Amino acid sequence: MLHLLSLRDWSSARMEEAFALGREIKAHPEKFENVMRRKTLCMIFEKPSLRTRVSFETGMIQMGGHAIFYDTSTSPIGAGKESASDTIRTLSRYVNIIMARLFDHARLEEMARHATIPVINGLTNFSHPCQILADLMTILEHKGDLKGLKLAYLGDSFNNVTHSLLLGCTKMGMNINIGCPEGKAYSPDQEVLKEALRTGKKMGCEVKITHDPVEAVKGADVVYTDSWMSYHIPAHQLNERVRIFTPYQVNEALMKQASPKAIFMNCLPALRGYEQTADVIDGPQSVVFDEAENRLHIQKAIMLMLVRENKT
Ligand code: CP
Ligand code: NVA
Repeated sequence: MLHLLSLRDWSSARMEEAFALGREIKAHPEKFENVMRRKTLCMIFEKPSLRTRVSFETGMIQMGGHAIFYDTSTSPIGAGKESASDTIRTLSRYVNIIMARLFDHARLEEMARHATIPVINGLTNFSHPCQILADLMTILEHKGDLKGLKLAYLGDSFNNVTHSLLLGCTKMGMNINIGCPEGKAYSPDQEVLKEALRTGKKMGCEVKITHDPVEAVKGADVVYTDSWMSYHIPAHQLNERVRIFTPYQVNEALMKQASPKAIFMNCLPALRGYEQTADVIDGPQSVVFDEAENRLHIQKAIMLMLVRENKT
């Protein structure tokens, strides 16, 4: 069964196929109006969402299918009355695809082990592959090519978006610089980093970790940041994290260190005055709503690829 749990499981060729199909769907949505006829997607949510929920649901409807929003806080699995395996084995008898947004990545892997239908990661604490596929499609649209570009990611780097960027960029032959504070709690997972370094070597691109934000963004084609307070971070850590991450805020002065044609990205939700200033996110270099839009197109491609490949 082919799933999308992490970009680790997807080859460069499969990613490229997704970009091509996503762009084709974006250009000619009418050609795909009936490809999901009588198909159902179940969307399991343990965390909040705007983009993931609405883009998956809309995507399914636009392709002639149906989507169910399944909130764990009102479900037996969330009440501790039903196991993940029984939940997934039951869902596998009803629907054609599962998308899940969970805290624990191991729980997503457990779900996938019990599924007889494809499972898509809609974000775990560890990774966010759909987001990064949408981001890479966005970069491709703006820059024409991915290979050899340099992406600089600034801020909280022990998170889902950083991990998926490390895997996704290197698979596309893109150089990636991570600018983050010192310490395990703010730096990428060591296993992901090792894998990105291995892939980078194979693909002829560099992976660099630095604690100097200026060094990170120097000459970058893409400047990317993400929330300092990811969904799973407790609210009481706000003040400490603001103090630790403020040197990595993307503001106009930092953007000036990047290539003059650099684009600015944030997967959203974003807080102005925290991980970036308002002038950057609302300025001419920002492509954040293109990223948000491309979630729709690339996820339609992902769902279609999974249903076709697995014949579900
Ligand atoms: N970027 C993203 O996944 O947004 P949501 O949390 O709104 O789904
Ligand atoms: N790192 C963020 C991404 C939100 C889409 C989080 O996990 O909340």
